[in-house]
Amino acid sequence: MTIRLEQSAIGSHVEEKKNVHKEETNELVVAKDGAFKAPEINAFGQSFRDYDVESQRQKGVEEFYRLQHINQTYDFVKKMREHYKKMDKAEMSIWECCELLNEVVDDSDPDLDEPQIQHLLQTAEAIRKDYPNEDWLHLTALIHDLGKILTLPQFGGLPQWAVVGDTFPVGCAFDEKNIHHKYFKENPDSKVAAYSTIDGVYTKGCGFDNVLMSWGHDDYMYMVAKENGTTLPSPGLFIIRYHSFYPLHKEGAYTHLMNEEDVENLKWLHIFNKYDLYSKSKVLVDVEKVKPYYQSLIEKYFPAKLKW
Ligand SMILES: [Fe+2]
Ligand SMILES: [Fe+2]
Repeated sequence: MTIRLEQSAIGSHVEEKKNVHKEETNELVVAKDGAFKAPEINAFGQSFRDYDVESQRQKGVEEFYRLQHINQTYDFVKKMREHYKKMDKAEMSIWECCELLNEVVDDSDPDLDEPQIQHLLQTAEAIRKDYPNEDWLHLTALIHDLGKILTLPQFGGLPQWAVVGDTFPVGCAFDEKNIHHKYFKENPDSKVAAYSTIDGVYTKGCGFDNVLMSWGHDDYMYMVAKENGTTLPSPGLFIIRYHSFYPLHKEGAYTHLMNEEDVENLKWLHIFNKYDLYSKSKVLVDVEKVKPYYQSLIEKYFPAKLKW
């Protein structure tokens, strides 16, 4: 069974990567020193995250963000967090979830035309080449998108706007650096005075741990990892939780809410993001070959079965 996502988007930053070189292939490029280099075209032969007018998907992406910005309210996020914190949907291992996610092909991510497990493994393997000793980072890469199972019927079958796309804090003013910011005007929270100042219901430097983020696959997977007692270190959990927080890690917005630990963790997120974006390649990873290595990491950092 293949479940197709109708309207995903990992965000829209048109200005990025416009200088497409005429390259025939889109392999994970490894330089002479063995370091991972970002290929400049994606599986469709276009530059990454290119949501320009020439992109046929542009309109769909904009409509996606219109819905997301209208519907992601402070109350909605609170309800979602309460609901999913029960972890009463399934019991399965991390690897089983990787395979389950494989049933989802994200139709509208402009950079991705392969099963999700390939994206996970390509990201993880690329990082592994450059950071061989950071095994927690390899595992973080493998599991960072598992929360996309929220789109599957047995996990609530949430609409796209509640699963994917750039994330942002709720309960404070929507920063203008958010993509398609204009649609926040129609968000009911824009009329709530308490949510409309820069700090909103938070205090400066309170740390993202105390901030409610728009609901999606990042925060869900963070909750799953945390509630099941993972031993992943703080930067790993931060990457899982904030990898779609492009307003922060690409645009530098919302830094006034960070604490010192966030500042440290953000360095790792910047490293991770390079691989998350650019490892969406046509060159497939041999799943069976690398599986034993990732199984050993799963055993190290997670219980055999997790509640979801
Ligand atoms: Fe993601
Ligand atoms: Fe990803």
